[in-house]
Amino acid sequence: MTTNRLETLLCAGAMLPVLFFAGCSGEAAAAGNPLQPPLGLADAKLIVPADDPLTAAKYELGKQLFFDPRLSETGKTSCSSCHLPEHAFTDAQQFSKKDNGGMNTRNSPTMYNVGYLPELYWDGRKKSLEDNILAAWTGQCGGKPDDVAAKLEAVAGYKTAFESAFGQKPNEDTIVRGLAAFLRGLRSGDSAYDRSAAGDKSAMSEAAQKGFELFMGKAGCQVCHQVPLFTDKLYHNAGIGMAAESPDLGRGKEDESKKGAFKTPTLREVAKTAPYFHDGSVKTLREAVETMAKGGLDNPNKDPLLMNRNLSSEEIDQLVAFLESLSGNQTFEKPKIPQ
Ligand code: HEC
Ligand code: HEC
Repeated sequence: MTTNRLETLLCAGAMLPVLFFAGCSGEAAAAGNPLQPPLGLADAKLIVPADDPLTAAKYELGKQLFFDPRLSETGKTSCSSCHLPEHAFTDAQQFSKKDNGGMNTRNSPTMYNVGYLPELYWDGRKKSLEDNILAAWTGQCGGKPDDVAAKLEAVAGYKTAFESAFGQKPNEDTIVRGLAAFLRGLRSGDSAYDRSAAGDKSAMSEAAQKGFELFMGKAGCQVCHQVPLFTDKLYHNAGIGMAAESPDLGRGKEDESKKGAFKTPTLREVAKTAPYFHDGSVKTLREAVETMAKGGLDNPNKDPLLMNRNLSSEEIDQLVAFLESLSGNQTFEKPKIPQ
C-alpha cells in the first residue's frame, strides 16, 4: 500500500483521532482539508472509483486545471468561468456563454459536494463525475483533449505535477481524473446548521431554528431536500419553465414518466447561488422559497409531493433564515496556474 493510499483511507474516516489528521495532505485538520469530510457530512458517502483514490496531489493538480483557460479551444474559457468560487462555484447569471459562443439553456449549478452525486447535470444524464467532466471540458470549454494535453506537457510545472499525482504525462484520462479529484475534495459543511446539529445551540439564530423546524415538518421540504446533502438525488417536476412554448423536458428525455422533472438541487450554499432553478428564472432566495412553499407551478405533470403549505410571510422569512445557515465555513484560495 502506498503512502497516498494509506492517507486516503485514514482521512476518509471522519471521526478519527486528531492524531491522524496531521498526516492528511500535510495540512492540519483545518476547515477545507479536501481529504476529510467537513462537519455534517461524515455519514454521506463520497463516490470515489476503487482504482483512483483521492489524494492531495491529484486535488491540487485538478484545482489548477479547473482555473486554467488553456483547457479551452480559444484559450479564454476555464471551468471557473462559469463556476466561480465567490458564488459557491456558480456564475450569478441566468445562462452562460460557452467557449464557442453558444448559449447554455440551463443555469450553472454549484460544484460543492458534487462528489456525492451518483448522477450529474440537472437531468442526471451523466452517470459518473468523470463522464460529466469530459463532456463539460469538450462541450462548454471546446477543449480538444490531445491538443490540450500537448500544451500542458510543455509547461514544466504541470509535467512534474502530473508525474507526482498520476505517475503519467498529461493526457485525456489524467486531465479528467485530476479535475474529478478536485471536485471530490470540494465540499461544503461546517455551516451554522451543522454546528447547531452537533450541539452548539447558539450557532443558529432563533429565526433559523424555527425555519429548520418548518423545513422538517409543516413546510414538507425535507421530503425531497433530505439531510445531510439537502437532496434526495431524485427528479421531480416542480413546474418550473413548463409554461414555455417548448419546455425543457429535463429527466423526461430519458424517462417518459418524468416530463419536466429535474434533479433536486442541494440547498447547501444556496444563499450564494442566485439566480435559482434549472432555468435561472428566479432572482432571489425568498422568491424561490415562496414558489416551493406554494407547491411549485401548476402543470399536468407536477409532483404530488408539492402542495401549497399556506405559510405566513414570517414563516417564509424563517425558512430563508434557515437556508442562509447552510453556507459552509470552508475557505477557498485560488490556485497559482503554472506558467
Ligand atoms: C460556459 C459555462 C460553463 C463552463 C465553462 C463549464 N460549465 Fe460546468 N456546468 C455549466 C452548466 C450550464 C451546467 C448545467 C448543465 C445541465 O445540467 O444540463 C454545468 C454542470 C456541471 C456539472 C454538474 C453538476 C451537478 O450538480 O450535476 C459539473 C460537475 C460541471 N459542470 C463541471 C465542470 C467542469 C469540470 C468544467 C471545466 C472542464 C465546467 N463545468 C465548465 C456551465 C459551465
Ligand atoms: C417534491 C420534491 C420537493 C419538495 C417537497 C421541495 N423541493 Fe425544493 N426543489 C425541488 C426540485 C426538483 C427543485 C429544482 C426545480 C427546477 O429547477 O426545475 C427544487 C428547487 C429548490 C430551490 C432552488 C435551488 C437552486 O439551487 O436553484 C430552493 C431554494 C428550494 N427548492 C427550496 C425548497 C423549500 C424551502 C421547500 C419546502 C417549502 C422545498 N424546496 C420543497 C424539489 C423539491
